[in-house]
Amino acid sequence: MGGTLPPVIAIDGPSASGKGTIAEAVAQRLSFHYLDSGALYRIVGLVGGERGVNLDNDLEISIISLNLKINFESGRVWVDGRDVSAQIRGEVAGAAASRVAALPGVRRALMALQRGFRQPPGLVADGRDMGSVVFPDASLKIYLTATPEERALRRHKQLMEKDSGASMAALLQDIRDRDLRDSTRAAAPLLKCADAIEIDTTGTSAKEVVEQVLHLYQKHQKTQ
Ligand code: C5P
Repeated sequence: MGGTLPPVIAIDGPSASGKGTIAEAVAQRLSFHYLDSGALYRIVGLVGGERGVNLDNDLEISIISLNLKINFESGRVWVDGRDVSAQIRGEVAGAAASRVAALPGVRRALMALQRGFRQPPGLVADGRDMGSVVFPDASLKIYLTATPEERALRRHKQLMEKDSGASMAALLQDIRDRDLRDSTRAAAPLLKCADAIEIDTTGTSAKEVVEQVLHLYQKHQKTQ
């Protein structure tokens, strides 16, 4: 046994920092697989809420996490045969995700599932703890940031495109609350690991950031 594991590019950062857009585009350019780990926590939060389970009950939510059949297929997300792509993107699922993500048992339950995405020729994974916990041996670790105001503005634009509005003040407050919860929780808090490269995306286009990440990856490959 033993062989070399496929390479991983880990992209972590706070909510609405553009991780998903960047990670997906980088994966496409390299023909790598893509893991949106936040979607897993969103699914668990959504299903836990639907089943009326207390979202702070680690044991019950962990059992749910272990038994869900999750499929990512051509940009859509299926859970137990149901398309939940739109629902998991809502602010309710986002807030529920942030609550269940604080439970250590749930994080353990989702670990094997996340590592299973590491398939040839490689993986781009985005989340909060991709570089620190799930793929500590990643070839490249990126930490994306942007000011809370810029992130609220991006979320506002996204919501407008979907015809669902929310006030900037409410979005900014939500982002600040989520940042605080994600960075102060005991289990796998959001942090920039020592070997991650920080990219501040405030005022930078997604295209530019994608080029920057690809350039860093090429540089890494040359040193191997
Ligand atoms: O990235 P996204 O906003 O979709 O993530 C939803 C929530 O899931 C985050 O607020 C965070 O609490 C949690 N999460 C996490 N670890 C990850 C990805 C997401 O704790 N790797």
